[in-house]
Amino acid sequence: MEIIENAIDYVEEFFKNDHSGHDYSHTMRVYLNAMKIAETEDADTFIVALSALLHDIDDIKTSPTTTENKDNARKFMEDNKVLPYVQEKVLEIINEISFKGNHKTPNSIEGKIVQDADRLDAIGAIGIARAFTYGGNKNRKMYDFSIEPKENLNEENYRDENSTTINHFYEKLLKLKDLMNTQSAKIEAEKRHQFMIKFLKEFYDEIGVEDL
Ligand code: ADP
Ligand code: NI
Repeated sequence: MEIIENAIDYVEEFFKNDHSGHDYSHTMRVYLNAMKIAETEDADTFIVALSALLHDIDDIKTSPTTTENKDNARKFMEDNKVLPYVQEKVLEIINEISFKGNHKTPNSIEGKIVQDADRLDAIGAIGIARAFTYGGNKNRKMYDFSIEPKENLNEENYRDENSTTINHFYEKLLKLKDLMNTQSAKIEAEKRHQFMIKFLKEFYDEIGVEDL
């Protein structure tokens, strides 16, 4: 499908200089995971594909100088003559899926699938790698046991600098498996979750502490 190929080229160009964890490879993993999940759901795969590919291009966090979401997804779809009802659905999904401390469940099955795929990419081996990459990028400490994990993340404190990457596991990553929408994502999330538990055990063992 030409529009999907255009979208892949578009995001590759878009994320060329972004190494914050919102990059082309993240987008492609979300896209491929979403397509895989969609195989076992009754979903419109074109909407799933387009929403996955465009899901991060309007986020304020990919452009720290703005305070409002951008209009890139809509512009891309206009330029590519995507049908109006598809455009609307894709924009709704992009809006719904970002975590930012709240637990909004998308209305459509397509949105649920893309949210699951995005969340899967935050856990397991890849999620661990992304978390430490993010932490390094933000100059965060790997761990500091005098800083408590935050009980509840919300839009205000989510970007708060005063935390550690290990705390992020307790604040977010270990909670994600229970937030999956689809059956196949639940199974994959459970596997990735167990890997993170194993990682944390080994981590504490190597630095000689009991647990958090
Ligand atoms: P998304 O909307 O895809 O979850 P985020 O910007 O929230 O995007 O996160 C991008 C990546 O960085 C994710 O893998 C996430 O777990 C990680 N990350 C976000 N906040 C932190 C943090 N405070 N410490 C460590 N990793 C983080
Ligand atoms: Ni994402």
